Amino acid sequence: MRAIAVSEYGATPALMNLPRPEPGPGEILVKMIAAGLNPFDWKLADGMVKDSVDATFPLILGVDGAGVVEQVGEGVTRLRVGEQIYGTFAGTERGLGAFAEYALAREDGPVALMPEGMIYTQAAAVPTASAAALKMVDAARVDAGQTVLVVGATGGVGQGLVQLASLAGAKVIATARADMAGTMRRLGADETVDHSRGDDADGLNAQVLAVHKDGIDAVLDVVSDAPATEDIAQLLRPGGTYVSSVWAVNPDSMEAKGLRGVNVSGGLTSGTLDRLSDLIDASDLRVQVEREVPLEDAPDAMAANRAGGARGKTVIRI
Ligand SMILES: NC(=O)c1ccc[n+]([C@@H]2O[C@H](COP(=O)([O-])OP(=O)(O)OC[C@H]3O[C@@H](n4cnc5c(N)ncnc54)[C@H](OP(=O)(O)O)[C@@H]3O)[C@@H](O)[C@H]2O)c1
Repeated sequence: MRAIAVSEYGATPALMNLPRPEPGPGEILVKMIAAGLNPFDWKLADGMVKDSVDATFPLILGVDGAGVVEQVGEGVTRLRVGEQIYGTFAGTERGLGAFAEYALAREDGPVALMPEGMIYTQAAAVPTASAAALKMVDAARVDAGQTVLVVGATGGVGQGLVQLASLAGAKVIATARADMAGTMRRLGADETVDHSRGDDADGLNAQVLAVHKDGIDAVLDVVSDAPATEDIAQLLRPGGTYVSSVWAVNPDSMEAKGLRGVNVSGGLTSGTLDRLSDLIDASDLRVQVEREVPLEDAPDAMAANRAGGARGKTVIRI
Protein backbone atom coordinates (compact mmCIF):
# COMPACT_ATOMS: atom_id res chain seq x y z
CA MET A 1 0.00 0.00 0.00
CA ARG A 2 1.06 3.63 -0.53
CA ALA A 3 2.09 5.44 2.64
CA ILE A 4 4.09 8.46 3.77
CA ALA A 5 6.88 7.28 6.04
CA VAL A 6 10.39 7.98 7.31
CA SER A 7 13.24 5.46 7.21
CA GLU A 8 14.74 6.89 10.43
CA TYR A 9 14.34 9.93 12.70
CA GLY A 10 15.39 13.08 10.87
CA ALA A 11 14.94 11.54 7.40
CA THR A 12 12.79 13.40 4.88
CA PRO A 13 9.26 11.90 4.80
CA ALA A 14 8.64 10.09 1.49
CA LEU A 15 5.99 8.12 -0.38
CA MET A 16 6.76 4.41 0.14
CA ASN A 17 5.18 1.11 -0.82
CA LEU A 18 4.69 -0.80 2.44
CA PRO A 19 2.80 -3.95 3.49
CA ARG A 20 -0.89 -3.61 4.29
CA PRO A 21 -1.37 -4.35 8.02
CA GLU A 22 -3.51 -7.25 9.25
CA PRO A 23 -6.01 -6.61 12.06
CA GLY A 24 -5.27 -8.66 15.18
CA PRO A 25 -7.78 -9.50 17.95
CA GLY A 26 -9.82 -6.43 18.91
CA GLU A 27 -8.50 -4.44 15.96
CA ILE A 28 -10.10 -3.03 12.83
CA LEU A 29 -8.52 -2.40 9.45
CA VAL A 30 -9.68 0.91 7.96
CA LYS A 31 -9.48 1.96 4.31
CA MET A 32 -8.40 5.55 4.83
CA ILE A 33 -10.13 8.24 2.79
CA ALA A 34 -8.63 11.31 4.47
CA ALA A 35 -6.03 12.08 7.14
CA GLY A 36 -5.55 15.23 9.19
CA LEU A 37 -2.14 16.85 9.63
CA ASN A 38 -0.93 17.96 13.07
CA PRO A 39 2.36 19.51 14.24
CA PHE A 40 2.91 16.19 16.07
CA ASP A 41 3.46 14.49 12.68
CA TRP A 42 6.60 16.46 11.81
CA LYS A 43 7.73 16.47 15.45
CA LEU A 44 7.59 12.65 15.32
CA ALA A 45 9.48 12.50 12.01
CA ASP A 46 12.12 14.89 13.31
CA GLY A 47 12.68 12.76 16.43
CA MET A 48 11.49 15.53 18.75
CA VAL A 49 9.27 13.13 20.72
CA LYS A 50 11.48 10.04 20.54
CA ASP A 51 11.87 9.83 24.32
CA SER A 52 8.13 9.44 24.82
CA VAL A 53 7.18 7.35 21.77
CA ASP A 54 8.06 3.75 20.82
CA ALA A 55 8.69 3.50 17.09
CA THR A 56 9.84 1.02 14.46
CA PHE A 57 11.04 1.98 10.97
CA PRO A 58 10.02 2.53 8.27
CA LEU A 59 7.57 4.57 10.32
CA ILE A 60 4.30 5.67 8.71
CA LEU A 61 3.41 9.18 9.83
CA GLY A 62 0.03 10.66 10.69
CA VAL A 63 -2.41 10.15 13.55
CA ASP A 64 -5.82 11.60 12.66
CA GLY A 65 -8.01 10.19 9.93
CA ALA A 66 -11.33 9.03 8.61
CA GLY A 67 -12.32 6.08 6.45
CA VAL A 68 -14.36 2.91 6.04
CA VAL A 69 -14.02 -0.26 8.12
CA GLU A 70 -12.56 -2.81 5.65
CA GLN A 71 -11.97 -5.82 7.92
CA VAL A 72 -12.44 -6.63 11.60
CA GLY A 73 -10.19 -8.77 13.79
CA GLU A 74 -11.25 -11.56 16.12
CA GLY A 75 -13.66 -10.52 18.87
CA VAL A 76 -14.63 -7.16 17.39
CA THR A 77 -18.30 -6.37 18.10
CA ARG A 78 -18.64 -2.57 18.37
CA LEU A 79 -17.79 -1.74 14.73
CA ARG A 80 -18.79 -3.44 11.48
CA VAL A 81 -17.37 -3.69 7.97
CA GLY A 82 -18.56 -0.76 5.84
CA GLU A 83 -19.06 1.71 8.71
CA GLN A 84 -17.64 5.22 8.34
CA ILE A 85 -15.39 6.04 11.26
CA TYR A 86 -12.97 8.74 12.36
CA GLY A 87 -10.43 9.09 15.11
CA THR A 88 -6.75 8.45 15.75
CA PHE A 89 -4.77 5.63 14.19
CA ALA A 90 -1.33 5.80 15.77
CA GLY A 91 0.60 2.55 15.85
CA THR A 92 4.12 3.86 15.93
CA GLU A 93 5.47 0.85 17.86
CA ARG A 94 4.60 -1.24 14.76
CA GLY A 95 5.58 1.49 12.27
CA LEU A 96 1.93 2.28 11.50
CA GLY A 97 0.10 5.59 11.11
CA ALA A 98 -2.72 7.38 9.30
CA PHE A 99 -0.95 8.69 6.16
CA ALA A 100 -1.55 5.39 4.35
CA GLU A 101 -4.13 3.58 2.25
CA TYR A 102 -4.93 1.33 5.23
CA ALA A 103 -4.55 1.89 8.97
CA LEU A 104 -5.31 -0.08 12.11
CA ALA A 105 -7.30 1.00 15.13
CA ARG A 106 -8.44 -0.77 18.27
CA GLU A 107 -12.21 -1.03 18.47
CA ASP A 108 -11.99 0.05 22.14
CA GLY A 109 -9.61 2.87 21.16
CA PRO A 110 -10.17 6.50 20.10
CA VAL A 111 -12.38 5.86 17.06
CA ALA A 112 -16.08 6.62 16.63
CA LEU A 113 -18.76 6.65 13.96
CA MET A 114 -18.51 9.81 11.86
CA PRO A 115 -21.05 12.51 12.76
CA GLU A 116 -24.19 12.39 10.59
CA GLY A 117 -23.73 14.32 7.35
CA MET A 118 -20.04 14.95 7.88
CA ILE A 119 -17.65 14.36 4.97
CA TYR A 120 -14.37 12.46 5.37
CA THR A 121 -12.10 15.47 4.87
CA GLN A 122 -13.90 17.37 7.65
CA ALA A 123 -13.93 14.41 10.02
CA ALA A 124 -10.19 13.81 9.54
CA ALA A 125 -9.52 17.40 10.62
CA VAL A 126 -11.23 17.00 13.98
CA PRO A 127 -9.66 14.50 16.43
CA THR A 128 -6.32 15.65 17.89
CA ALA A 129 -6.75 19.42 17.65
CA SER A 130 -10.39 19.63 18.74
CA ALA A 131 -9.86 17.13 21.58
CA ALA A 132 -6.91 19.18 22.83
CA ALA A 133 -9.06 22.32 22.74
CA LEU A 134 -11.80 20.58 24.71
CA LYS A 135 -9.29 19.34 27.30
CA MET A 136 -7.71 22.77 27.68
CA VAL A 137 -11.05 24.55 28.20
CA ASP A 138 -12.03 21.87 30.74
CA ALA A 139 -8.65 22.19 32.51
CA ALA A 140 -9.01 25.99 32.75
CA ARG A 141 -12.56 25.60 34.12
CA VAL A 142 -13.62 28.39 31.77
CA ASP A 143 -16.86 29.93 32.98
CA ALA A 144 -19.36 32.62 32.05
CA GLY A 145 -18.14 36.13 32.76
CA GLN A 146 -14.44 35.26 32.70
CA THR A 147 -11.95 36.91 30.36
CA VAL A 148 -9.73 34.41 28.54
CA LEU A 149 -6.72 35.00 26.28
CA VAL A 150 -6.09 32.36 23.56
CA VAL A 151 -2.47 32.40 22.38
CA GLY A 152 -2.01 30.66 19.01
CA ALA A 153 -5.70 31.16 18.25
CA THR A 154 -5.45 31.02 14.44
CA GLY A 155 -4.31 27.38 14.11
CA GLY A 156 -6.01 24.00 14.49
CA VAL A 157 -6.22 23.88 18.30
CA GLY A 158 -6.62 27.63 18.70
CA GLN A 159 -9.71 27.92 16.53
CA GLY A 160 -11.37 25.24 18.68
CA LEU A 161 -10.33 27.09 21.87
CA VAL A 162 -11.86 30.35 20.70
CA GLN A 163 -15.18 28.65 19.90
CA LEU A 164 -15.36 26.52 23.05
CA ALA A 165 -14.35 29.33 25.43
CA SER A 166 -16.93 31.61 23.81
CA LEU A 167 -19.56 28.85 24.05
CA ALA A 168 -18.79 28.59 27.79
CA GLY A 169 -19.75 32.26 28.10
CA ALA A 170 -16.27 33.76 28.47
CA LYS A 171 -15.08 37.00 26.92
CA VAL A 172 -12.42 35.80 24.49
CA ILE A 173 -9.29 37.65 23.39
CA ALA A 174 -7.61 35.89 20.45
CA THR A 175 -4.12 36.41 19.06
CA ALA A 176 -4.24 37.04 15.32
CA ARG A 177 -2.25 38.70 12.62
CA ALA A 178 -4.28 41.30 10.72
CA ASP A 179 -5.48 38.83 8.02
CA MET A 180 -7.16 36.60 10.63
CA ALA A 181 -8.83 39.15 12.93
CA GLY A 182 -12.19 38.88 11.13
CA THR A 183 -12.15 35.07 11.21
CA MET A 184 -11.43 35.09 14.93
CA ARG A 185 -14.42 37.35 15.59
CA ARG A 186 -16.66 35.13 13.45
CA LEU A 187 -15.58 32.14 15.57
CA GLY A 188 -16.56 33.97 18.76
CA ALA A 189 -13.64 36.17 19.80
CA ASP A 190 -14.68 39.48 21.37
CA GLU A 191 -11.29 41.08 20.79
CA THR A 192 -8.07 40.33 18.94
CA VAL A 193 -4.47 41.23 19.69
CA ASP A 194 -1.69 41.04 17.08
CA HIS A 195 1.17 38.84 18.34
CA SER A 196 3.39 39.90 15.44
CA ARG A 197 3.75 43.37 17.02
CA GLY A 198 6.82 42.40 19.00
CA ASP A 199 8.11 45.41 20.91
CA ASP A 200 7.31 45.81 24.61
CA ALA A 201 5.37 49.05 24.29
CA ASP A 202 3.03 47.50 21.75
CA GLY A 203 3.60 43.77 22.48
CA LEU A 204 1.03 41.16 23.50
CA ASN A 205 0.83 42.09 27.21
CA ALA A 206 0.60 45.80 26.49
CA GLN A 207 -2.23 45.25 24.00
CA VAL A 208 -4.21 43.16 26.50
CA LEU A 209 -3.57 45.50 29.46
CA ALA A 210 -4.64 48.51 27.40
CA VAL A 211 -8.20 47.11 27.53
CA HIS A 212 -8.06 44.94 30.68
CA LYS A 213 -6.17 47.02 33.26
CA ASP A 214 -7.12 44.65 36.10
CA GLY A 215 -5.91 41.59 34.25
CA ILE A 216 -7.64 38.47 32.95
CA ASP A 217 -8.78 35.11 34.34
CA ALA A 218 -7.15 32.50 32.10
CA VAL A 219 -4.59 31.99 29.35
CA LEU A 220 -5.01 29.08 26.92
CA ASP A 221 -1.69 28.84 25.10
CA VAL A 222 -0.63 26.45 22.30
CA VAL A 223 2.61 28.09 21.20
CA SER A 224 4.64 29.84 23.90
CA ASP A 225 7.85 28.41 25.36
CA ALA A 226 8.57 28.42 29.11
CA PRO A 227 10.06 31.96 29.38
CA ALA A 228 7.17 33.37 27.35
CA THR A 229 4.58 31.72 29.61
CA GLU A 230 6.18 33.41 32.65
CA ASP A 231 5.91 36.75 30.84
CA ILE A 232 2.32 36.30 29.66
CA ALA A 233 1.30 35.03 33.14
CA GLN A 234 1.75 38.62 34.39
CA LEU A 235 -1.63 39.28 32.75
CA LEU A 236 -3.42 36.91 35.14
CA ARG A 237 -5.37 38.09 38.15
CA PRO A 238 -4.68 36.27 41.49
CA GLY A 239 -6.22 32.80 41.27
CA GLY A 240 -6.01 32.80 37.47
CA THR A 241 -5.13 29.74 35.37
CA TYR A 242 -2.50 29.17 32.66
CA VAL A 243 -2.98 26.11 30.42
CA SER A 244 -0.38 25.00 27.87
CA SER A 245 -0.65 22.34 25.13
CA VAL A 246 3.12 22.24 24.64
CA TRP A 247 4.21 21.46 28.20
CA ALA A 248 5.68 24.92 28.69
CA VAL A 249 4.01 25.83 31.99
CA ASN A 250 5.82 25.38 35.29
CA PRO A 251 3.00 24.62 37.79
CA ASP A 252 5.26 25.31 40.81
CA SER A 253 6.25 28.71 39.49
CA MET A 254 2.58 29.53 38.79
CA GLU A 255 1.60 28.40 42.30
CA ALA A 256 4.27 30.67 43.77
CA LYS A 257 2.56 33.56 41.97
CA GLY A 258 -0.88 32.57 43.33
CA LEU A 259 -1.89 31.09 39.97
CA ARG A 260 -2.71 27.61 38.68
CA GLY A 261 -0.58 26.10 35.89
CA VAL A 262 -1.72 23.07 33.87
CA ASN A 263 -0.01 21.19 31.02
CA VAL A 264 -2.41 19.21 28.84
CA SER A 265 -1.34 15.94 27.25
CA GLY A 266 -2.91 13.81 24.48
CA GLY A 267 -4.88 10.69 25.25
CA LEU A 268 -8.01 10.92 23.11
CA THR A 269 -10.87 8.56 24.00
CA SER A 270 -13.95 7.47 22.04
CA GLY A 271 -15.96 9.34 24.71
CA THR A 272 -14.18 12.59 23.79
CA LEU A 273 -14.88 11.92 20.11
CA ASP A 274 -18.57 11.43 20.94
CA ARG A 275 -18.56 14.78 22.79
CA LEU A 276 -16.94 16.42 19.76
CA SER A 277 -19.50 14.80 17.43
CA ASP A 278 -22.31 16.28 19.56
CA LEU A 279 -20.72 19.75 19.48
CA ILE A 280 -20.32 19.51 15.70
CA ASP A 281 -23.89 18.22 15.21
CA ALA A 282 -25.17 21.18 17.26
CA SER A 283 -23.05 23.56 15.11
CA ASP A 284 -21.26 24.71 18.27
CA LEU A 285 -17.90 23.67 16.86
CA ARG A 286 -16.72 24.33 13.30
CA VAL A 287 -13.42 22.96 12.06
CA GLN A 288 -11.95 25.02 9.24
CA VAL A 289 -10.06 23.04 6.61
CA GLU A 290 -7.51 25.44 5.18
CA ARG A 291 -5.95 23.14 2.60
CA GLU A 292 -6.49 19.69 1.04
CA VAL A 293 -3.56 17.90 -0.60
CA PRO A 294 -3.09 14.48 -2.22
CA LEU A 295 -1.13 11.83 -0.29
CA GLU A 296 2.07 12.34 -2.30
CA ASP A 297 2.13 16.02 -1.27
CA ALA A 298 1.97 15.26 2.47
CA PRO A 299 5.76 15.78 2.93
CA ASP A 300 5.48 19.32 1.51
CA ALA A 301 2.41 20.00 3.64
CA MET A 302 4.31 18.90 6.77
CA ALA A 303 7.20 21.20 5.87
CA ALA A 304 4.74 24.08 5.38
CA ASN A 305 3.15 23.43 8.79
CA ARG A 306 6.59 23.35 10.41
CA ALA A 307 7.31 26.78 8.86
CA GLY A 308 4.23 28.24 10.64
CA GLY A 309 1.33 30.40 9.52
CA ALA A 310 -1.45 27.76 9.82
CA ARG A 311 -4.91 29.23 9.23
CA GLY A 312 -6.88 26.09 10.01
CA LYS A 313 -6.35 22.39 9.33
CA THR A 314 -4.49 20.72 6.47
CA VAL A 315 -6.13 17.51 5.26
CA ILE A 316 -4.54 14.78 3.15
CA ARG A 317 -6.73 13.00 0.58
CA ILE A 318 -5.71 9.36 0.33
N1 LIG B 1 -0.77 18.31 24.27
C1 LIG B 1 -1.60 17.89 23.34
O1 LIG B 1 -2.39 16.97 23.53
C2 LIG B 1 -1.59 18.59 22.02
C3 LIG B 1 -2.62 18.33 21.12
C4 LIG B 1 -2.66 19.05 19.93
C5 LIG B 1 -1.63 19.95 19.64
N2 LIG B 1 -0.61 20.12 20.51
C6 LIG B 1 0.47 21.07 20.22
O2 LIG B 1 -0.09 22.39 20.23
C7 LIG B 1 0.62 23.18 19.29
C8 LIG B 1 -0.38 23.88 18.36
O3 LIG B 1 -1.02 22.91 17.55
P1 LIG B 1 -1.94 23.36 16.33
O4 LIG B 1 -2.41 22.12 15.68
O5 LIG B 1 -2.92 24.37 16.76
O6 LIG B 1 -0.84 24.09 15.40
P2 LIG B 1 -1.05 24.91 14.05
O7 LIG B 1 -2.35 24.52 13.42
O8 LIG B 1 0.21 24.80 13.27
O9 LIG B 1 -1.26 26.43 14.55
C9 LIG B 1 -0.34 27.21 15.25
C10 LIG B 1 -0.85 28.67 15.17
O10 LIG B 1 -0.16 29.49 16.10
C11 LIG B 1 0.15 30.75 15.50
N3 LIG B 1 1.32 31.27 16.20
C12 LIG B 1 2.62 30.91 16.04
N4 LIG B 1 3.40 31.59 16.91
C13 LIG B 1 2.57 32.38 17.65
C14 LIG B 1 2.76 33.31 18.71
N5 LIG B 1 3.98 33.55 19.21
N6 LIG B 1 1.69 33.92 19.24
C15 LIG B 1 0.44 33.68 18.78
N7 LIG B 1 0.18 32.82 17.75
C16 LIG B 1 1.25 32.18 17.20
C17 LIG B 1 0.40 30.39 14.05
O11 LIG B 1 0.18 31.50 13.18
P3 LIG B 1 1.40 32.44 12.72
O12 LIG B 1 2.55 31.52 12.38
O13 LIG B 1 0.87 33.19 11.55
O14 LIG B 1 1.70 33.33 13.88
C18 LIG B 1 -0.66 29.31 13.80
O15 LIG B 1 -1.88 29.87 13.35
C19 LIG B 1 1.59 22.26 18.56
O16 LIG B 1 2.89 22.41 19.09
C20 LIG B 1 1.05 20.87 18.83
O17 LIG B 1 2.04 19.86 18.79
C21 LIG B 1 -0.57 19.46 21.69
